[in-house]
Amino acid sequence: MKGKAEVILGMQWGDEGKGRVVDAIMSKCDVVVRYQGGANAGHTVIVEGKKYIFHILPSGMLYSGKTCVVGNGVVIDPDRLFEELDELSSQGMDRARLIVSGSAHVVMPYHKILDQLEEKSRRDEKRIGTTGQGIGPCYVDKFNRTGIRVYDLMHPETLREKLDYILGLKNQIITRIYDEKPISFDSVFERAMEWKERLSLYVGDSSLVVANALEEGKRVLFEGAQGTMLDIDHGTYPYVTSSNPSCGGVFTGTGVGPKGVDRIIGVAKAYCTRVGEGPFPSEDFGGKGNFLREKGKEFGATTGRPRRCGWLDMVALKYAIRVNGVTHLALTKLDVLSGLEEIKVCVAYEQEGRRFEEYPADTEVLNSVKPVYKAFKGFSEDTSEAKTMEDLPPAAQDYVKFIEEETGLPVIILGVGPDRRETIYNE
Ligand code: GTP
Repeated sequence: MKGKAEVILGMQWGDEGKGRVVDAIMSKCDVVVRYQGGANAGHTVIVEGKKYIFHILPSGMLYSGKTCVVGNGVVIDPDRLFEELDELSSQGMDRARLIVSGSAHVVMPYHKILDQLEEKSRRDEKRIGTTGQGIGPCYVDKFNRTGIRVYDLMHPETLREKLDYILGLKNQIITRIYDEKPISFDSVFERAMEWKERLSLYVGDSSLVVANALEEGKRVLFEGAQGTMLDIDHGTYPYVTSSNPSCGGVFTGTGVGPKGVDRIIGVAKAYCTRVGEGPFPSEDFGGKGNFLREKGKEFGATTGRPRRCGWLDMVALKYAIRVNGVTHLALTKLDVLSGLEEIKVCVAYEQEGRRFEEYPADTEVLNSVKPVYKAFKGFSEDTSEAKTMEDLPPAAQDYVKFIEEETGLPVIILGVGPDRRETIYNE
């Protein structure tokens, strides 16, 4: 294998700014691959003041001459995929070549309906905070072996049979449990046939495309969505997403082995945020939390819902590094900390006199721990023009050095503003 691959994934609860890190590294790569999640991701890339938001397409779509792959581990909402492609075309983008894995599962209209009905029926405290886009129910069908894959759309007669059976089951749930109107077979089938027309232009074998690229000596980038703390296996279950954003997801979600991977880059914000319910030990409920929310624009991209904000959690960060085998770090939104007199970092947890240096895997324990903070001197200078570490105020440099020392990993990319040019490359 002549080529090499790198993985970029989130260390926290998503929204770390992975899109801009992928964008920063993409120019050196030939192929960019998404491996899990669905249209619930929202990578934002800002180039010369112009904003591009990707929900399902890899952020690498902004580069013509590259190949972008949507792997088998992603669940595909075809309407959203086409919307994004149309949006890029309308902006006159000469975009990358796109391959969509035929083995990826399709988010069907009934998945969205069931997602919303299920969430509505959960008691307040049991709500997971799903985005209601059918992603969870689509993954459920995948593992229940009642899913519809992109390849199925390409074979209408087999699809008809499968759909007839599956829709029968779904309609029983919709009518009997939720007392709602059944979904008509024809409407779903016709929709699937419309999708087939357009998807057939992109369908392919993602595993083979990536393996061949590596054989040919190309550089491949695997782009994670959401974050490790939202991983279905390693996150704060049940307040998690329904896929594996962590590194293992790369290999199951693309059909490529780990042999070619030489760098695993973990992306962390300089502070922490979380959307929806679930444990968040370093959450700040006071003025500092508000400061981070306002300055960092921490409001949901589609819902406008305020994100929960707090301090960098080293316990969780070290855990995410371990779970993913991270080799390098990227730190985003350092600029947001400017203006704080004091910056806190959670260095351990405490519960009834017991100190935790390691992340407690038991969510019940995690729910009741209190953060132990180390305080750092803040800074007030504008960091957005900094091009090297040395250009940063000394207090900001100390903060980054502390993270490097504590984790034993180099911070190779630093976000000092949202724009592509507001990036420090530190390698
Ligand atoms: P998910 O996959 O949905 O978790 O998203 P993501 O990790 O790709 O995060 P996203 O691209 O949505 O970035 C979050 C927001 O932070 C976007 O609005 C970015 O423009 C912004 N952002 C990223 N890096 C920086 C930075 O260094 N400074 C500032 N001020 N904003 C940044």
